[in-house]
Amino acid sequence: MRAADSSPKGSVMKAAEVWTAERIRRQKGRGRLACLTATDAAFARLLDEAGIPLILVGDSLAMTVLGHATTLQATMDVMAHHTAAVARGVRRALVVADMPFLSFHGGRERTLDNAGRFLRESGAGAVKLEGGAFRARTVAHLVRNGVPVLGHIGLLPQQVHTLGGYRVQGRTAAAAAQLREDARRLEEAGVFGLVLEGIPAELAAELTAAVAVPTIGIGAGPSCDGQILVLHDLVGMTPDPPPRFVRRYADAGTLVRDAARAYAADVAAGRFPSDAESYGGGSSGD
Ligand code: KIV
Repeated sequence: MRAADSSPKGSVMKAAEVWTAERIRRQKGRGRLACLTATDAAFARLLDEAGIPLILVGDSLAMTVLGHATTLQATMDVMAHHTAAVARGVRRALVVADMPFLSFHGGRERTLDNAGRFLRESGAGAVKLEGGAFRARTVAHLVRNGVPVLGHIGLLPQQVHTLGGYRVQGRTAAAAAQLREDARRLEEAGVFGLVLEGIPAELAAELTAAVAVPTIGIGAGPSCDGQILVLHDLVGMTPDPPPRFVRRYADAGTLVRDAARAYAADVAAGRFPSDAESYGGGSSGD
């Protein structure tokens, strides 16, 4: 597990360089937080080197990595496995494990066991869970027992079947009022930050001004204290067209496809491997 004063490679790291849930909380009003998801050690290391402060192991990996149609298929075992991989790739960023569908519903002890597993076994520094006022007591229980929690309100992908699809939330006066109450209750319960997903930009701006913890938006306009995107969306590894709130910063899909085609052509033509890429029979060993 990552420690504040040493890295897995043995070099000393100052505690001030490491992102904790408390440091994220204190970031309110001090500059915008650019957050991303990751699902493995290789990508997590790159994001960490890029200075990303918060890396979420989102249950969206059920879709982006495992090929499912929704996030509901992410289980505790799957999330613990990927969270551990991400934590192994990270030196500075806060790793947040997403609590999967139905993992925080079966009573307080089961919820605490599941959340604790992410911190104890997988090396996460916090968990995220979906839900507003109706989850405030669960959040308070986790926080009281030493588990930092990132809240998540607005569009809740784990409720896709009851919502009837991935729809922008908070567009009616009643729905907006409910979101105000959700934000207030979660702040009171002790979240260190609040993901606002799929809500109108004006409402996100209002919620951001109303709470003392950073809001992290996805499809919630520019006024949040931070933003989060799914890495696979950011680098062009999900199908086109992406949702409106996504900006593609790279076309890794084309890069990987072109590399695979060039490799296949070289193998077919006998151009790979070359002599320099092959071993001789001598004793030098290389
Ligand atoms: O699962 C996920 O990736 C998420 C973020 C997009 C907020 O919940």
